[in-house]
Amino acid sequence: MLSAEHVILRELLARDPKWVSGSVLASKLGVSRVAVWQHMEKLRAAGFTFEAQRSRGYRIAERPATIYAPLIETHLKSRPRNFSLLVLNEVDSTNDEAARQLAAGRPAPFAILARRQTRGRGRFGRSWHSDSTSNLYASFAFRPRVEPERMQTFTLWMGLNICEMLSNFAGVSPGIKWPNDILFDGRKAGGMLTEARVDADQIRDLIFGLGLNVNVPSGGWPSDLSRRAIALADVSGTRLDLNRLAAALIGRVLLAYQTFTDGDHLSRFADLWNRYDLLRGKSVTLLEGGRRHRGIVSGVDDEGALLLRDDQGKVHRFRAGEVTLEKTGGTPPTLDVHSF
Ligand code: BTN
Repeated sequence: MLSAEHVILRELLARDPKWVSGSVLASKLGVSRVAVWQHMEKLRAAGFTFEAQRSRGYRIAERPATIYAPLIETHLKSRPRNFSLLVLNEVDSTNDEAARQLAAGRPAPFAILARRQTRGRGRFGRSWHSDSTSNLYASFAFRPRVEPERMQTFTLWMGLNICEMLSNFAGVSPGIKWPNDILFDGRKAGGMLTEARVDADQIRDLIFGLGLNVNVPSGGWPSDLSRRAIALADVSGTRLDLNRLAAALIGRVLLAYQTFTDGDHLSRFADLWNRYDLLRGKSVTLLEGGRRHRGIVSGVDDEGALLLRDDQGKVHRFRAGEVTLEKTGGTPPTLDVHSF
């Protein structure tokens, strides 16, 4: 069931920049013009400003700079049945909230987005800087009911899809640093954290979390991140519409999940991997369980493991670990990347 705010936004955005009369909105909603005015007040409180003229009606003047559920819903092109979206002002971690919602029986798929996280988590128990309402913190919950082996390349697949979505949305050229980083020029703009609970030999539920640095101003980072992190707005040279981006992200993640669980992703995987993989042919150090391995990346295998060729020519495979690109003479310093 659509909220009144969603219906009003749908009408205003469809006609934008033209005017929509209060009586049209009232009849779409089946309410009085006074009730329309009250819903407009709610939208104002969420960060919209409107031009209003007695003879012409309303039109949008400004949109909220932070995420707002009815606006994201309005921008969503299609959605699976039963999908629900929850937008929170603040939460400890959207992944943790998704786990709580799953445990409470919320039907999947659903997405949880928050304007801020107080305990955003990254890989290896690290924290994810989540203080800026200009970024996206999102978790998607699914109940895939397949054997865990089927999901081994899931995070890579999602990362590739997100890279393609970003390049279409903002005209930027991101890359994936195996296994979960989205980078621009050696600086991290996004990180993914997939967590699954397994019952006997089937995945009971799976949470895919994504943190994306979108509009945080340069200078808006804590000092330890300022050289390693980057926001999409810095790359594209313009602030991005966070709500449109959130809708594009949700659409793409839901589609990519469906393609993956149907097993239809294989034909596109190699093509996307060739386009967005940042490591192939690069000299790297991989840190795994306290051990360092050096080598040249020769690719990933069917199970998503990284293949490293050592200096004797022997290929080793790694299921997990953290990769650092080696500095070389001709390599710009920004290629010195780390996960965080
Ligand atoms: C990493 O690079 O180590 C992964 C970072 C994942 C961060 C996202 S933000 C939304 C979701 N909620 C969390 O607590 N973590 C993920």
